Amino acid sequence: MNPDLSVSYKHDFEKFLKHTDEKAILVSEIEKYISRYDIRSVLDIGAGNGEISIPLSKKVDRYLAIEKNPEFTLQLTQGGVETMEAEFPVQVVGAFDMVLASHTISYRRSDFSTFIKEFVQTAWNLVNENGIFLMIGSGGNNDDWYNLMKEIGEATELEPNKLGYQETTEQLHAIGKVTVEKVAAYVRTETLEDMIDALTFIAGKGDPVRKEKFLRHRDVTESILTEKYATADGFAFPFYHYFHLIQKN
Ligand SMILES: C[S@@+](CC[C@H](N)C(=O)[O-])C[C@H]1O[C@@H](n2cnc3c(N)ncnc32)[C@H](O)[C@@H]1O
Repeated sequence: MNPDLSVSYKHDFEKFLKHTDEKAILVSEIEKYISRYDIRSVLDIGAGNGEISIPLSKKVDRYLAIEKNPEFTLQLTQGGVETMEAEFPVQVVGAFDMVLASHTISYRRSDFSTFIKEFVQTAWNLVNENGIFLMIGSGGNNDDWYNLMKEIGEATELEPNKLGYQETTEQLHAIGKVTVEKVAAYVRTETLEDMIDALTFIAGKGDPVRKEKFLRHRDVTESILTEKYATADGFAFPFYHYFHLIQKN
């Protein structure tokens, strides 16, 4: 990314982070699974920068984070989390009460079919007897974000997500009985401008072409947001997180 683009990516990302309750929702929902299943050890695959892993690690006796991005592994280690810098699937010694993969999988990989099969199998082998595999991702294309992108004519961008989600759930069903919980997190803003900035991050994800395509429809997007997502305090736009749970027994 050249310096200008990284500045604009950072700006959109910060707007998004400032206005979403996503990380707080993820932490509190995962904590519910930790207490419901009496989890003492967690393997967190694709732990990220520590925002959810650091608070979660304090809830259990052992928390091992696997993360491929060296910047994030440094933050995790500094946050006191036992960390392995690697790209999963990778050999891990031992087994865990919970194996967690929260928003780890990119549906856009060219080798997705082989990758997801190996990922799910390897993760499952690391779950203790009576333990759980918890995989969190965005769902197929049936949510508000997809509908918004469809209305502005940019939904083709999201087609890989639909196929990736289908293949992921097929692999999960192949290993056991899957229970799905749909959890909403919201981007909330006082102004329409801030909402557009936050959603631009989701649409662009660091790609200036996708960002520009999204912003081309700014007028229509603003009308849809005003019509459907205005609240007493401003605007609230939902993103759904699908929690897929499989218990080993
Ligand atoms: C979108 S972030 C999610 C972070 C965190 N789990 C959360 O839910 O907030 C995805 C993270 O997974 C990491 N990641 C993606 N694929 C990975 C893999 N195969 N092995 C290890 N880390 C991976 C990325 O580097 C990134 O930090």
